[in-house]
Amino acid sequence: MSLAALQALESASVVHSYARMPVEFVRGEGARLWDSEGNEYLDLLCGIGVTSLGHCHPRVVEAARAQLGRLMHVSNLFYTEPAMRLAERLSALSLGGKVFFCNSGAEANEAAIKLARKAKRGGDVLVVHGAFHGRTYGALSATPQEAKQAPFAPLVPGFRAVAPEAQALRTAVDAGTAAVILEPIQGETGVHVLSDELLGAARAACDEHGAALIFDEVQCGMGRTGTLWAYEQTGVVPDAMTVAKALGGGLPIGALVTGERLADVLEPGDHGSTFAGGPVVAAAALAALELIAEPGLLGHVRERGAALAEALAALPHVVSVRGRGLMLACELDIAAPALVRRALLDQRLVTNATGPTTLRLLPPLTIGEAEIAEGLARLRAALEA
Ligand SMILES: Cc1ncc(COP(=O)(O)O)c(C=O)c1O
Repeated sequence: MSLAALQALESASVVHSYARMPVEFVRGEGARLWDSEGNEYLDLLCGIGVTSLGHCHPRVVEAARAQLGRLMHVSNLFYTEPAMRLAERLSALSLGGKVFFCNSGAEANEAAIKLARKAKRGGDVLVVHGAFHGRTYGALSATPQEAKQAPFAPLVPGFRAVAPEAQALRTAVDAGTAAVILEPIQGETGVHVLSDELLGAARAACDEHGAALIFDEVQCGMGRTGTLWAYEQTGVVPDAMTVAKALGGGLPIGALVTGERLADVLEPGDHGSTFAGGPVVAAAALAALELIAEPGLLGHVRERGAALAEALAALPHVVSVRGRGLMLACELDIAAPALVRRALLDQRLVTNATGPTTLRLLPPLTIGEAEIAEGLARLRAALEA
């Protein structure tokens, strides 16, 4: 089917909630994608931080394939080994508590909000401006962005947003606060690293008032910043965190991971999801998690990230570069959406704009030096066009 035919189908049959680029991808391998006309692209976006091991990583594919032929689904009324093993590994590699599985980042945040509200009945949830936690009602209510929230009012009550500053948080957290939810690095709004001072203030305020500190590591977790979890580089340990995107190695899975204090708040009947932690995605996620948790790969992310940030800063029209590891954004002195389109269509380079002048790069964690050099050359050509 031609691209024009796909576009006609979309126009007739698909809810128009996405502004798609005029490309149909049909195959992916490592950092490469191919479109339906046989053109090859370099992918510096990974879905949006999903295919962090590159497209179709053989060990993830093999784990999913083996499980596909054995058992695809049973309800959460029964046990399956992949889900139990994945929960054990996720907990052991992070907060040491327990795991609730779901299918996406927004759902992981829904679970976190319910957990926090049950732990401290009737309490408020505090978030910071610039946050993005997802599109479902609880997650949207935690996403203080006028354009995303306003058409869908009324939202869930009991959410408050403050400036992403230590003092603002200290003042805002009080006895009525059930949770503070933060992305250690805000992704969707342009890769803004929250300061250690702010995170430390949130930790202290939550401790003082018996509130839960919850980190949304949906985008910045799973090795993206050069440690398995972004919180490891902040000196602050949350009471719970949410994970999704790269967790499934390309398949849809999300998780709420608790520390010990909150591990037993949710009880049978409190929460659930039909597909959550299904054996195929859990098997794929187990493979992805073991691959990403390897110290060699995490060191590679730190090295390649630092080198990429330095090289990006030297490109024309790049005013500044921010981020950590391979979660990077460039502030430009030209329009980012037009650049992204030019890079894609002329240079076969997949990137993303998070704002009028902000270019975001989330390359595969496995990306090699030569691929980075190639990406930079293609980006330079798009910037100079
Ligand atoms: C930090 C963060 N939280 C939550 C979400 C929502 O995840 P999902 O789209 O899987 O619901 C996203 C998605 O971009 C995200 O970046």
